[in-house]
Amino acid sequence: MGLSSMLFTLAFLLSGAASLASQAYFNDVADLPCQFTNPQNISLGELVVFWQNQEMLVLYERYLGKDKLDNIDLKYLGRTSFDQDSWTLRLHNIQIKDKGSYQCFVHHKKPKGLVSIHQMTTDLSVLANFSQPEIVQLSNVTENSYINMTCSSVQGYPEPKKMYFLLKTENSTTGYDAIMQTSQDNVTELYNVSISLSISLPAVTSNMTIFCVLQTELMETQLFSSPFHIDPENQPLPDPPSPSTWFAIALVPLVIAPVIISQSLRKLKKKRKPGASYERETIKVEERKVSSMREE
Ligand SMILES: *[C@@H]1O[C@H](CO)[C@@H](O)[C@H](O)[C@H]1NC(C)=O
Ligand SMILES: *[C@@H]1O[C@H](CO)[C@@H](O)[C@H](O)[C@H]1NC(C)=O
Ligand SMILES: *[C@@H]1O[C@H](CO)[C@@H](O)[C@H](O)[C@H]1NC(C)=O
Ligand SMILES: *[C@@H]1O[C@H](CO)[C@@H](O)[C@H](O)[C@H]1NC(C)=O
Ligand SMILES: *[C@@H]1O[C@H](CO)[C@@H](O)[C@H](O)[C@H]1NC(C)=O
Ligand SMILES: *[C@@H]1O[C@H](CO)[C@@H](O)[C@H](O)[C@H]1NC(C)=O
Ligand SMILES: *[C@@H]1O[C@H](CO)[C@@H](O)[C@H](O)[C@H]1NC(C)=O
Repeated sequence: MGLSSMLFTLAFLLSGAASLASQAYFNDVADLPCQFTNPQNISLGELVVFWQNQEMLVLYERYLGKDKLDNIDLKYLGRTSFDQDSWTLRLHNIQIKDKGSYQCFVHHKKPKGLVSIHQMTTDLSVLANFSQPEIVQLSNVTENSYINMTCSSVQGYPEPKKMYFLLKTENSTTGYDAIMQTSQDNVTELYNVSISLSISLPAVTSNMTIFCVLQTELMETQLFSSPFHIDPENQPLPDPPSPSTWFAIALVPLVIAPVIISQSLRKLKKKRKPGASYERETIKVEERKVSSMREE
């Protein structure tokens, strides 16, 4: 478990005191290292070792070789384990509230009293991975080729940077920004985020895929939703009935009936065929085609 909590030795010196940075996942274990090398090989039986948080509340104390519970704050009872070999305190069941700085102290018990021989500060940050963003379709493609959808991702920390939709067609990728709605749980302090958008679909009849992307603050990671397919065959983008559409529909039976096919019609069919996906043509162009066909 301790492996998943990462540890960086930032080794920066702030007002003369060395400080470490540690990172842990929500509900996981945090490492709070003391980095005591014990150069004089002093026995634990002569040492007083303890960790405290920034409010001076004690997490753990090893007093002359024995665990001492008297000074430990209630919220840390039963949540710690001390690794003697690495001089690291493990704090279990990490919550967002646990982020902050911690100090480890090592004192040598001498006849005259306690002598401080080592001190280390660790700054702990806490993360929670957001769930994979999930797209929910709120409406079918409407008459105006609009589709309404929301995307949500839950139980993450810290607050992410942004969330957006990506619409991919055969040839293009378009990003759609939206205002991110954020809610934070009072108890866990985890965030839920969502966006809603009414997307105007481009006038293509090829398949389209929509992704939702969550950009988290840390390490610039991007979380992608599963692809959301819009298949125009099952969900036709209803072109407003215009002369051009009616012409295209009327042309099909003519082409299929072999007796009626004329050379010029064949040419015309070839022209139209590559448009398994075609952009809407203007009515004027279509009308000219009709008239030239009739002239032939
Ligand atoms: C440290 O002391 C212990 C006994 O107190 C001894 O067994 C051990 O070998 C010593 N280690 C070093 C590196 O001196
Ligand atoms: C969180 O996400 C990171 C990066 O994708 C991954 O390495 C890590 O294992 C995840 N942690 C948990 C607790 O899910
Ligand atoms: C979309 O249309 C289908 C069939 O017409 C219907 O079953 C489905 O509930 C609709 N979905 C939404 C989100 O309105
Ligand atoms: C889609 O969203 C827009 C803007 O919020 C709204 O005006 C419209 O009524 C919605 N359409 C459907 C079919 O839900
Ligand atoms: C994609 O590009 C190809 C070649 O440029 C073109 O023939 C096709 O019509 C385009 N498709 C869409 C959906 O725009
Ligand atoms: C966040 O989402 C989870 C899971 O869907 C839900 O249980 C929780 O109540 C939500 N919290 C907030 C603050 O919206
Ligand atoms: C669109 O996707 C469906 C399956 O989702 C597939 O059967 C169809 O061939 C695809 N059409 C194109 C033009 O890629």
